Amino acid sequence: MWLIFLCILQLLYTWNCEALTVKALVPRYKIRGETAVLRCDFELEGDLLYAVKWYRENEEFYRFVPKATPQKTSYIVDGIKVDHAQSNSRQLTLKDITLKTTANYRCEVSAEGPSFASAQDGGRMEVIYLPKDGPYISGDKTVYQFGDSINLNCTSAKSYPASTLHWFVNNIPAKEESLKRYSPQIHPRGLVTTTLGIRLSLDAETVLNGAVRVRCVAILSPVLWSGDNEKVLSRQDKREALLLVTGSSSKCHYSLTVVFLFIIIIMSLFM
Ligand SMILES: *[C@@H]1O[C@H](CO)[C@@H](O)[C@H](O)[C@H]1NC(C)=O
Repeated sequence: MWLIFLCILQLLYTWNCEALTVKALVPRYKIRGETAVLRCDFELEGDLLYAVKWYRENEEFYRFVPKATPQKTSYIVDGIKVDHAQSNSRQLTLKDITLKTTANYRCEVSAEGPSFASAQDGGRMEVIYLPKDGPYISGDKTVYQFGDSINLNCTSAKSYPASTLHWFVNNIPAKEESLKRYSPQIHPRGLVTTTLGIRLSLDAETVLNGAVRVRCVAILSPVLWSGDNEKVLSRQDKREALLLVTGSSSKCHYSLTVVFLFIIIIMSLFM
């Protein structure tokens, strides 16, 4: 009701109810260090452009005013580096994005008189921090006897958002009851490390041909994390650590030794 009334009121002034339309295109996810291009598309419907302003949360950091000299102005805001050469009225380029670049962005377009119309649109951008190395496996001992229980932890490298961990024993996903979940650790700048423990018995079921292969996989997948059904261009980061426990038998006893521990890093790209 009110909307119609306001429209009629505006119509009396401008003879056009939808004089100005704005559509912002803000990338949903970006990887730290990348360049982000944010678009602000608008239809002036015959009006002249007065200014395009970009805000992070409610703080203005860039404006484009065609009649001003210089046309482009940017203000210092932590975590934002505007690339003026690659920015104009419809496009804003941010260089070397950091975790601090994560925010809600909006562009506001205003027209010159007589309409002085203005409209805005925006979106949220989240910056992803990929882990710098693989997860690592730690244990309480290095030598075990057949029949012992082995307690291991797998800890992911720092990332944002948190990586999810999965244990595999002889290439089979570990049983839920053998896992021990610890709460994630939050570090400065919001980076997260996760730890997942496993307890396994070195018995005839797990020791195959004198060895046990224990693998921990850390996955960072922004698509799973997003929770919305928006189609996003995304990549999945997958890294793993492998532990091999091998047996050696001497005259009187059979012992198992953690012989090597290495990290395999697999980076997969999903489009
Ligand atoms: C696994 O990590 C937890 C939490 O940091 C710690 O309390 C526990 O002692 C660790 N266990 C092993 C086997 O390293």
